[in-house]
Amino acid sequence: MTPLIDCTKTAAWAQLHSIAQSLEPDLRQWFELDPGRVERFTFQAGDLHVDLSKNLINDEILGQLVELAERVGLEHKRDEMFAGERINITEGRAVLHTALRRPKGDSLIVDGVDVVAEVHQVLEQIYAFADQVRDGRWLGITGKPIQTVINIGIGGSDLGPVMVYEALLPYVKPGLECRFISNIDPTDVAQKTQGVDPETTLFIVASKTFTTLETITNAKLARTWLLDSLRERGISDDAEAIKRHFVAVSTALDKVAAFGIDPQNAFGFWDWVGGRYSVDSAVGTAVAIAIGPERFAEFLAGFHTIDEHFAHTELAQNVPALLGLLNVWYTDFLGAASHAVLPYAQSLHRFAAYLQQLTMESNGKGVRVDGSPVTTDTGEIFWGEPGTNGQHAFYQLIHQGTRLIPADFIAVANPAYPLKQGEQDVHELFLANFLAQTKALAFGKTEAEVRAEGTADEIVPHRVFAGNRPTTSIFAPALTPAVVGQLIALYEHITFTQGVVWGINSFDQWGVELGKQLANQITPALAGDATALESQDASTQALIAYYHEHRQP
Ligand code: F6P
Repeated sequence: MTPLIDCTKTAAWAQLHSIAQSLEPDLRQWFELDPGRVERFTFQAGDLHVDLSKNLINDEILGQLVELAERVGLEHKRDEMFAGERINITEGRAVLHTALRRPKGDSLIVDGVDVVAEVHQVLEQIYAFADQVRDGRWLGITGKPIQTVINIGIGGSDLGPVMVYEALLPYVKPGLECRFISNIDPTDVAQKTQGVDPETTLFIVASKTFTTLETITNAKLARTWLLDSLRERGISDDAEAIKRHFVAVSTALDKVAAFGIDPQNAFGFWDWVGGRYSVDSAVGTAVAIAIGPERFAEFLAGFHTIDEHFAHTELAQNVPALLGLLNVWYTDFLGAASHAVLPYAQSLHRFAAYLQQLTMESNGKGVRVDGSPVTTDTGEIFWGEPGTNGQHAFYQLIHQGTRLIPADFIAVANPAYPLKQGEQDVHELFLANFLAQTKALAFGKTEAEVRAEGTADEIVPHRVFAGNRPTTSIFAPALTPAVVGQLIALYEHITFTQGVVWGINSFDQWGVELGKQLANQITPALAGDATALESQDASTQALIAYYHEHRQP
């Protein structure tokens, strides 16, 4: 295992610190004086064209960041991950989501097992099932083909499938619809089952552990809804109904069987796939049904393209490594606390939500792998919405607020729907906004420029844009399955890079446990158990009292 190096004790860290102290960013001037800047700071990874030139960097900063990565052993750690070493030390697990997208015929032996061969066995099972559903060969209990697939899962068993389904809607087979139930708020099940025909609905219960309260509760609610609705139509063979209308995705196939789902209809995966890294495993079954096995294979190949780039490209040209290092630069040296992700692609409207789990559950850690406290800030807050909607909502703060918010702008050259308004290509209107925003953020608008427009004196300060607000532009040819896979893998490896620099374990999530435990203790108090109520703190007791006062029978 690579030794743990304290990033803050390296010479590169000290150097970056001193550069940051005296940095006077001036992107206007940096662009003017350096005609080679854009070319030098533009990189390619697979289909992703990544322009870093509008970031607050120069050659020295990038050089020191790469030096820092070398000092903390990023390449060794990366190689350990790809090789299946147990780098998730608090759970004693390998971290092998990269094995999920290795091509058929590749081999990776971990603990005597060829994990790539196992991955492809399950993929074949999923593909055969997806084809049956798509071709109308998989029939519901009354002999009708499936029209609606409802995925029940939460966290990694929901966010990935939803985000990718939405991103790839133009590729979804006409006549098939996917819905997603995640929240234990009963509204979710109630609304998502509204208007669907139980005879043509298939539920996928997706849970790595098959113990998650939300998912198991929702699966039971869905089972009741299905059986009750069928009974109203005179169908009462419950076991057969569950067999035809429920499948599962899990690492715990024994628990799937206990729920009543035929183990024949369960797709497995492995404990070396983290929930938030699992959309490319059986957790993506809803997506595989929706877009079909061929497209799903392209999606996986997209991930693999970026894996290969990350694994084999020198750090100075390695896009995920550079982006991860840039995030460290902003977080630890320039004081940024958050990071915006702004896709100029409506289809990526769930991308920021997806990234929130990937990045924040991974890197929201306060201790290092050896249990000692972290030595610097970790885990910035990821957030965002698609442009142009965000422009009319929160961009004001990015442009003129007091906080530094590095932002990733993502766009594609070819729209899914090439519409024209008269002679105007509407995608070009859209892209003009993507380009205008990054330009405004970088170069701003000076007082002299504002005055030259004849602005009244007292309004001038309000119309000045300071500029030097950092952005990364990520451009791709189109939002294909492969490109979506590439984007996800890009952010997975960015997250990994940051975690390695900070010396944390990006693959556990103990921080979600306490709330789960307490909810179990509070549930009886809400139901009226006096002893459970007494053991609560005063604020919780008062809130429960409010609930009892207002809840109608
Ligand atoms: O509680 C957090 C978490 O464990 C996530 O990491 C995970 O993606 C989610 O819950 C769902 O877990 P499961 O797939 O086991 O139901």
